[in-house]
Amino acid sequence: MRSKIAFKGKTALITGASSGIGRRVALDLAVLGVQVILVARRQDRLVLIQKEIENRGGKADFFVGDLEDEKARRALIARLLETQKIDILINNAGFGWYGFYADMPWETAQSLVEVNITAMLSLTRALLPGMRDRGYGHIINIGSIAGGFPNQGIAVYAASKAFMDAFTTALYREMRGSGVQVSVARLGPVKTEFFETAKKIENGNKVPGEMFSISVERSSRAIVGLLQNPHRFLYVPAVFSGLRVVEFLFGWIIDKLGPLLLRKLPGHESD
Ligand SMILES: NC(=O)c1ccc[n+]([C@@H]2O[C@H](COP(=O)([O-])OP(=O)(O)OC[C@H]3O[C@@H](n4cnc5c(N)ncnc54)[C@H](OP(=O)(O)O)[C@@H]3O)[C@@H](O)[C@H]2O)c1
Repeated sequence: MRSKIAFKGKTALITGASSGIGRRVALDLAVLGVQVILVARRQDRLVLIQKEIENRGGKADFFVGDLEDEKARRALIARLLETQKIDILINNAGFGWYGFYADMPWETAQSLVEVNITAMLSLTRALLPGMRDRGYGHIINIGSIAGGFPNQGIAVYAASKAFMDAFTTALYREMRGSGVQVSVARLGPVKTEFFETAKKIENGNKVPGEMFSISVERSSRAIVGLLQNPHRFLYVPAVFSGLRVVEFLFGWIIDKLGPLLLRKLPGHESD
């Protein structure tokens, strides 16, 4: 089902809106007349983004909370169900870690699953019934090309994005005809704090691919475009749509390369 969305008067909940892709999408949607609700842990950043949006005549509210924490997720959901009608949910909060899974701190693996998977499931479960009852809504999950191209060094991250991908596909099929759209944006590298954050975590290496990254502006344009022209999935940039074929045809070569693909990259040593 394809529909052109009228942005004015809509409300969007954007997780991970204190930096990178989430921040840019919040600014871009606010300019189009969407009231945005920003979620992240860094309050100082959220205050600044709220001011930036208000200075441009937009409307923004925020919720400070750690999406890894079930109590914080419940508090956010309780507030939303009491006070807001959410039309657009952008499950964007997330982080990555690069290195051998055997060296990944267990706490990091647990956090990654909570933020990248459980927070998405719990917010979607809470907001979907209202969208279905109103016959309108759009959930966009910010996925990655890693979800279909699970290489050495990103075992848990790639698995979290593959989960997101499978969940989106099934949900899209469940909601067909209901007026609720469900999409996954499969992003290639984007210039954000993502790379720095991953490197700072214990035992983490520099994530490769940063040199090929596109701007947050470009990724945000694609995400806003997805709201206007809904599709189940979108590759950003489109050139990455060939990766699944690469995996299918040449995955055996990547298998043979084994840990060679997971060498320590320049930049890690300085940490
Ligand atoms: N950059 C890329 O190359 C790339 C490629 C493909 C997919 N993605 C995906 O894009 C999404 C956004 O990442 P980004 O590139 O914009 O990176 P980013 O600049 O590091 O942004 C990550 C956002 O997630 C929030 N976040 C992280 N942990 C959180 C937690 N426990 N509770 C609440 N919020 C949390 C951060 O806010 P606080 O720190 O303030 O909490 C921040 O706003 C992620 O899901 C990532 O997997 C990124």
